[in-house]
Amino acid sequence: MTYSITKAEQELQSRREGLNLRWYPRYHLAARAGWMNDPNGLVWFDGWYHAFYQHHPYSTQWGPMHWGHARSKDLVNWEHLPVALAPEGPDDKDGCFSGSAVVDGDTLALIYTGHKFHGDPGDEANLYQVQCLATSRDGIHFVRHGTVIDTPPGLHHFRDPKVWREGEWWYMVVGAREGDTGQVRAYRSADLREWQDMGVLAVAEKEMGYMWECPDFFTLNGKRVLMFSPQGLAAEGFKNRNLFQSGYLLGEWQPGKPFAREGEFVEMDRGHDFYAPQSFLTPDGRRIVIGWLDMWESPLPEQQDGWAGMLSLPRELTLSVDNRLQMRPAREVEILRGAWFPWPVSTLNNQQMTLVEHCDAMEVILQWDCANSSAEQYGIRLGDGLRVYVDAQMQRLVLERHYPQYGLCGTRSVALNLNGVLSLRLFFDYSSVEVFVNEGEACLSSRIYPDADCRELALFAWTGGASLIHGGAWQLE
Ligand code: FRU
Repeated sequence: MTYSITKAEQELQSRREGLNLRWYPRYHLAARAGWMNDPNGLVWFDGWYHAFYQHHPYSTQWGPMHWGHARSKDLVNWEHLPVALAPEGPDDKDGCFSGSAVVDGDTLALIYTGHKFHGDPGDEANLYQVQCLATSRDGIHFVRHGTVIDTPPGLHHFRDPKVWREGEWWYMVVGAREGDTGQVRAYRSADLREWQDMGVLAVAEKEMGYMWECPDFFTLNGKRVLMFSPQGLAAEGFKNRNLFQSGYLLGEWQPGKPFAREGEFVEMDRGHDFYAPQSFLTPDGRRIVIGWLDMWESPLPEQQDGWAGMLSLPRELTLSVDNRLQMRPAREVEILRGAWFPWPVSTLNNQQMTLVEHCDAMEVILQWDCANSSAEQYGIRLGDGLRVYVDAQMQRLVLERHYPQYGLCGTRSVALNLNGVLSLRLFFDYSSVEVFVNEGEACLSSRIYPDADCRELALFAWTGGASLIHGGAWQLE
């Protein structure tokens, strides 16, 4: 099969009609139809935020990757644009894989991975991943310039270029696998076309993974952050529970020197579904990150509805005084707030209380006085399938989903200090929940699949009492 943007657009138009929208997000970005994975090329250009994404228009399964495209004035209301890149070859004949975007004068430049097999695609030895360039003046139609960095000798997995400007140079980091070890390589260029190899920037120490996908490298409060998505970390207790992780290392870096890391790899989101995040800067200098709100190999029940995959809310990144990355919803998310429903509840005693009959798109605020709560479990539930609650015996905040009909059951959790107040902001959309804990201290994001008639929100406290200082919900519009 040969691919083109025209063909992809025709396909999407006809598929769009057949969608079942029961789980389709109301304020998150998802593909018009077909499959979506990683966010790509997040950038502010010519008065718009642009979000591209890994896209397969021809089915709800991953397949030869295209770049889907949408733009927004405010990071929450997205307008779909035509597919930006199709695997038209020869450099990207088997897929236009993940990458990034930069603004070069009046030009929008996309730097992405051309994925191709020379011969039998069943044999990894035939895999080549090269970094390609495409440019645009209008931000919608792209001219393809082919390969700008070829596969280094001996490598096969070499992908997901992230480009940024620093001083006089363009820099690029690329994720790679050498033998069974993940690494990030660095390059620099004066013109986005000729690239100089700067060597290996960072490499996996023992047990830090066989492949590092989607690297990103930026400065926050004077510290360098290497954000990436390692494959091959072993689960350990409550850590690394998902098939693949996404997280960061902090350290110091000067161009031309290796990255001097300080401390351990830290996961960014402790829910079931957050992967391949990418960051970008707003015109007013905030560092925002968006991730794919799904996980490889995890069931995606919306596939039966004609679409698959969605992106997370935009989240602002900051560094805390003790050098931890914090994520809060970007302030633009507040634009969505409609009517406010305060919850007239102060204590719950071994009981459950329904507060919203039908929760579709809502932001919920909860402040629990943990120091003055005796209940063993207290929190909020959505229908029969989702609970987000304090487990006082374990001293953890737990997100539990229970959709046995879709093969999605289990918990994710973070440690809590129960001596004070616990502040939660929960964002519900038709098939997702994102929980922000204590102003950015932690975040848990998961896909959820409630039935339309089973979406009531209730608070509960079992085996004792729980004290709620403040609670309520915004309808999101
Ligand atoms: C991450 C990833 C990238 C790759 C893309 C392919 O989820 O595996 O490494 O470029 O997805 O769709």
